[in-house]
Amino acid sequence: MVDYVVYGRGSFNQLDEILASQRKDGAPMIFLLDHFFENKSLASRIPLHGNDKIIIADVTYEPKTTYVDKIAADLKNEFGKVSGIIGIGGGSTLDLAKAVSLMMNNPGSSADYQGWDLVKYPGVYKAGIPTLSGTGAEVSRTTVLTGPTKKLGMNSDFTPFNQIVLDPELTSNAPVNQRFYTGMDCYIHCIESLQGTYLNEFSKSYGEKALELCQKVFVEKNVWDDESDDALMMASFAGGMSIAYSQVGVAHAVSYGLSYLLGTKHGIGNCIVFDKLEEYYPDGVYEFKKMVEKNKIDIPQHITKGLSDEQFDTMINVSLGMKPLWENALGKDWEKTMTREKLRKLYEQL
Ligand SMILES: NC(=O)c1ccc[n+]([C@@H]2O[C@H](COP(=O)([O-])OP(=O)(O)OC[C@H]3O[C@@H](n4cnc5c(N)ncnc54)[C@H](O)[C@@H]3O)[C@@H](O)[C@H]2O)c1
Ligand SMILES: [Fe+2]
Repeated sequence: MVDYVVYGRGSFNQLDEILASQRKDGAPMIFLLDHFFENKSLASRIPLHGNDKIIIADVTYEPKTTYVDKIAADLKNEFGKVSGIIGIGGGSTLDLAKAVSLMMNNPGSSADYQGWDLVKYPGVYKAGIPTLSGTGAEVSRTTVLTGPTKKLGMNSDFTPFNQIVLDPELTSNAPVNQRFYTGMDCYIHCIESLQGTYLNEFSKSYGEKALELCQKVFVEKNVWDDESDDALMMASFAGGMSIAYSQVGVAHAVSYGLSYLLGTKHGIGNCIVFDKLEEYYPDGVYEFKKMVEKNKIDIPQHITKGLSDEQFDTMINVSLGMKPLWENALGKDWEKTMTREKLRKLYEQL
């Protein structure tokens, strides 16, 4: 779990104080800042001292193992040691920060650690400050990376942040579509966790609360205001806690394939898939469609039209590789239910 959590409007202002005790002589704090905030006022509020450095995180594409390795190698060359890595941004930037922190202390490439419990040593001190709400990356024990052969996280006990600062003010300028797609990541985490076979009382407690908060902001309320940002940030936190002890399910397993082949981003990819999952999550999909309509969001259609057999096979292989997700969704005998043919049909509908 995350060691320390601060929540509240304006809590970003406490960052200097929070980091003070983590600073080591001569070793800088490295701030990975989501490129959206380059030249924005948030950049000038980062508390820089000595040789601290801001690195603008290019999140045009979701994080790749090559990008993680490059940042870590450059930092080792430039500074030797760093005091910490602070990620400020959406889920992509948070994941990048977690992975770079780990790669400061682990040999080889981050691609070597894509999987479960492969990371050998703790990373350097790492803090996460989300500017979008929904992924749960701020609390999870994974960092999702696209590597040479797979899209898979570095899942380990060393992966969670040492500190997170949850300041809902930072999410207030997010565009409506992006806010919805990332928010739906949380909604889908809840549905997949609550209807999964891995569910236990821990996951259920957090999942139900997160679901209630998502419904409040996307179903019940008619305006988006500060209360909405406050609630969605806690929904993301609770949704992430819920899957910490369970797993995600069909939407994630299928959307990973899309993302690997077509570069479809996580939030929107999950929406594209979830839209077609009535068979697996009838109530959730019904409510999802209502939320799409109410919030006037476009869900892209026919994105797999015209793909070759080989391309479908690539997506199917990536997806079927996510065994724990399928097992959570469909039970131990999932391979009998989710055949390659059935999955191909599902991909053709997207
Ligand atoms: N580690 C985990 O447990 C976990 C869980 C789910 C998803 N993820 C990862 O999270 C990523 C998706 O994260 P995301 O949905 O937060 O999006 P993102 O981080 O990919 O960002 C999407 C876009 O929004 C911009 N942005 C960020 N904050 C903004 C703000 N306040 N205002 C305006 N624009 C802003 C970014 O610059 C980017 O262009 C994927 O890489 C996915 O794999 C990780
Ligand atoms: Fe997700």
